[in-house]
Amino acid sequence: MKSSYEDALAYYGIGGAHPGGLNLTKKVLKKMLLSERTRVLDAGCGTGQTASYIVKEYSSKVTAIDVHPIMLQKAHHRFTLDRLPVKLHRASVELLPFKDESFDLVLSESVTAFTDKNKTLKEFLRVLKPAGSLLAIEMTAEKPLTEDEKRRILEVYGITRILTEKDWLKSIKDAGFANCRILSSQSVSDNLKSLTAETVPELNPSQHIPAVLDQILTEHYKLTTDLAKKLGYRVYEAKR
Ligand SMILES: C[S@@+](CC[C@H](N)C(=O)[O-])C[C@H]1O[C@@H](n2cnc3c(N)ncnc32)[C@H](O)[C@@H]1O
Repeated sequence: MKSSYEDALAYYGIGGAHPGGLNLTKKVLKKMLLSERTRVLDAGCGTGQTASYIVKEYSSKVTAIDVHPIMLQKAHHRFTLDRLPVKLHRASVELLPFKDESFDLVLSESVTAFTDKNKTLKEFLRVLKPAGSLLAIEMTAEKPLTEDEKRRILEVYGITRILTEKDWLKSIKDAGFANCRILSSQSVSDNLKSLTAETVPELNPSQHIPAVLDQILTEHYKLTTDLAKKLGYRVYEAKR
């Protein structure tokens, strides 16, 4: 099978592999009034950095899922080492193995964009409790892109479409969410300017990393630099 951008993130064990990283996650979570009673689903948890942070900071009841075996292995290792009571499952966000109305908060940190977003958003809605919220931090096109630029983005990330803010809001609404607001937004260009030592991503590299994954990450960095003013992220908060 062809190697993907997600394979590169998994082999390098990049934590906080979403725009804004853990720093943005911390800021956004402060607004969510989490407690030890809150049931959280970290959907597409990667190496488990956010799930771990939520348990340590808020003692919430966290379930984490992912489909990538190496991500799951690294998340499992993290939770075991830190003795964290996170329920970890191998499962797809497109078909969640949970009952309706199971969670108060579903977190999708740079995950929905890599999936069939209509299926995924409907699943998020289904598993949310009536007053529950979805928090989605997703790559968003800031400005019109040329056909060549679009092709490059789809190729590097293995996605089928790059969405604008308007597209995301429509998809979230079409999935059945009652309302959606944007909690935070930034272009890649502004994000790069605001990087500090604190925002350096966590790494947990595998012993053997296929060389092709270096090329994929190089392409990713080149792309985000070339299109820094045209790409960005939004934090979407959608209510059931
Ligand atoms: C860009 S990474 C973000 C990881 C993590 N949320 C973070 O911020 O560090 C995307 C993650 O989504 C996971 N993923 C992709 N498709 C998925 C699916 N259908 N179901 C569950 N996880 C999926 C990948 O394995 C990967 O861990």
